[in-house]
Amino acid sequence: MNNIQSVGKAVSRLEGHLKVTGAAKYAGEYDAQDLLYGYIVGSTITKGRIKSIDSSEVKKMEGVVEVFTHENKPSTAWFDLQYADMDSPPGTVFKPLKDNNVKFNGQPIALVVAETFEMARLGAQKLKVIYEEEKFSTDLRENVDKARTAKKGFATMLKPPPPKPAGDFEKAYENSFIKTDLQFAHSTEHHNPMELCASTVIYEGKDKLTIYDKTQGTINSQLYVANVFGLKMKNVQVISPFVGGAFGAGLRPLHQLFMAVMASLTLKRNVRVTLDRSQMYIIGHRPPTLQHLKFGADSAGKINAIYHKALAETSRFEDYVENVVNWANMLYPAENTLLKHEIIPLDVYSPLDMRAPGGSTGMHAVEITMDEIAYQLNIDPLELRLINYSDIDKSSGREFSSKELRNCYLRGAEKFGWEKRNPVPRSIKKGNKLVGYGMATGIWEANRILGRAEAIMNLDGTAEIKSAVTDIGTGTLTVMTQIAADELGLPIENVTFSYADSKMPFAPIQGGSFTTATVGPAVQNACRALNKKLFKKAKDSNASWSNIRFNDVIFQNGFIMHKHDPEFKISTKEILASNAKSIKASSSAMPNPLTAGKKAKAAHSAVFVEVEVDEELGTIEVSRAVTAVAAGKIINPKTAESQILGGMIWGLSKALHEETILDHRYGKYMNANFAEYHIPVHADVNDLQVLFIDEEDQDVNSLGVKGVGEIGVVGMAPAIANAIFNATGKRIHDLPIRFEQLI
Ligand code: MOS
Repeated sequence: MNNIQSVGKAVSRLEGHLKVTGAAKYAGEYDAQDLLYGYIVGSTITKGRIKSIDSSEVKKMEGVVEVFTHENKPSTAWFDLQYADMDSPPGTVFKPLKDNNVKFNGQPIALVVAETFEMARLGAQKLKVIYEEEKFSTDLRENVDKARTAKKGFATMLKPPPPKPAGDFEKAYENSFIKTDLQFAHSTEHHNPMELCASTVIYEGKDKLTIYDKTQGTINSQLYVANVFGLKMKNVQVISPFVGGAFGAGLRPLHQLFMAVMASLTLKRNVRVTLDRSQMYIIGHRPPTLQHLKFGADSAGKINAIYHKALAETSRFEDYVENVVNWANMLYPAENTLLKHEIIPLDVYSPLDMRAPGGSTGMHAVEITMDEIAYQLNIDPLELRLINYSDIDKSSGREFSSKELRNCYLRGAEKFGWEKRNPVPRSIKKGNKLVGYGMATGIWEANRILGRAEAIMNLDGTAEIKSAVTDIGTGTLTVMTQIAADELGLPIENVTFSYADSKMPFAPIQGGSFTTATVGPAVQNACRALNKKLFKKAKDSNASWSNIRFNDVIFQNGFIMHKHDPEFKISTKEILASNAKSIKASSSAMPNPLTAGKKAKAAHSAVFVEVEVDEELGTIEVSRAVTAVAAGKIINPKTAESQILGGMIWGLSKALHEETILDHRYGKYMNANFAEYHIPVHADVNDLQVLFIDEEDQDVNSLGVKGVGEIGVVGMAPAIANAIFNATGKRIHDLPIRFEQLI
């Protein structure tokens, strides 16, 4: 055994000190010589044309260097490629300043570049624009007759369309003992990470740029800039070591990146463009979604018929989709299903993945429906889940690679004290508060894609690992260092993980909870390849080792040692000394195409919530919650717990706070600021507990990890809604839940 094993230990995040002391630099904080600042001007109309745009006065203002509009925009290579980045939905990518058409409110229509941010912003306020307005429509409910299925595209790989109908839903539903028929509505939500979207572009000479960008994927931004501006990939370097939250907001290259690069290349200067908080509401959002669910169950609670239809917003130019309706039958093995997902194009910017896209929307509706069935049959909601438990994903007919959900239910219930629940709504009071218990299931796919890494053993016996992957606050830096340390048999202090630089080996965008499963095995493979090289050097320089094979040795504490014979032991330093230079190895990891599709792969959770609702005021407090999670191997219990806690708080926020309100008369978001877009504060967050359930999985990847970035969000909102029903007897189907609905 390796006595310095680091995987499984609650290692504090390695960059934590840099972050809390302010030493960590974010994209908009890099200094550069004679830096110029760009401020984006947004359209004040929702749809139509720019008749004229007069920048002559602005250009005369002190400190203003240039004003870019569609009229003087430099010619760019553009991209007639359908997909400009790794996360583009099918359609036509929005191109800022392309022409005089306005397609959504707040659309970037100009960039004012000045010596300071304030001068640029003042210039932006003075720009004279005359529009010709056209009729527009932004109301989802008014356009349900325009719903259609989405075009398929690259994104379909990770977001498959709903499974085909199975059995005979209508007949099975008709013959069911219990029939539910419920409608749900979800509001628009915006990501709102603390760090604003920013790009600092350093002009390195002709057609060569170094870019500090807020992104979830350095190579994705590099690809976009190279494509759009016709630059060589090697001349575009994107660096993003610290990301102040993203949650999907950095999956696609954003307007400020385009603008900053355009200005830098044209002016041959260093340029920074940072969005302000209100502009963070034009980068994409979780789409408003309407859902209709009809479930049929027999008198014992067995669900036999599932109908789940979602209607979701998209823009007029891209078909954004999410997996909203694919989950119910993955969890509950009904024979008869009818699942549909349709989109409604409106005059808005394209929606964008937000933490647990689709899953948190769909499972909200599914798990409230389950609670309703339990209530009607007078079966405990937890018992109902166990009655409908399956080790097979019925929607695909595939067995789960692992599924410890049963233990999530049982151990979570025990930790929470679920047995104290009274099934009768309004039965528990505490002063003027109604107390309720609710639970829900969470599920999220365990995906992985292609990742690469390089491992280097230095002369002093320390190692450096490299990958272009970002760490968006999830703990990736720490977790990758742990994985490498164990593989190389080094203490964690002797391993450096260098990352978030597009010059490093390929990694996809950080997202979909697939980063540890994607880059982790690549790090492992690169370290193993390095070990093999070290072993070969050891053999080459030592005749007595000739009969020893790689499988006979272990790497521990900086030594290569025979597993059974302590005679054979050599330090890596010694090997390197004879080599006189560092040793490098690279490797990649990806799903095995022959076996990858054979099993269903998902992380699961069970969420238990207690709420207190003020009887007169309707105010809601989540007094405590427990989430039990089965997500394969947990590399770092501390960073993983933080991920689940963050997800739970997000779920609480979804249930009770977040909503971007669009005034359909103007086609404009009316609360695009932190004062009016509500998110939880400390006082809203009480006792939250996370329980990881052991789960072995040989199939997901060599590490056995499933990812923890999103599973924490999924079950929280429905568990809260179900607890509110238990407390008050009111079943609220829409999110967010408002206290006026409970008065
Ligand atoms: Mo996540 S919504 O894939 O950042």
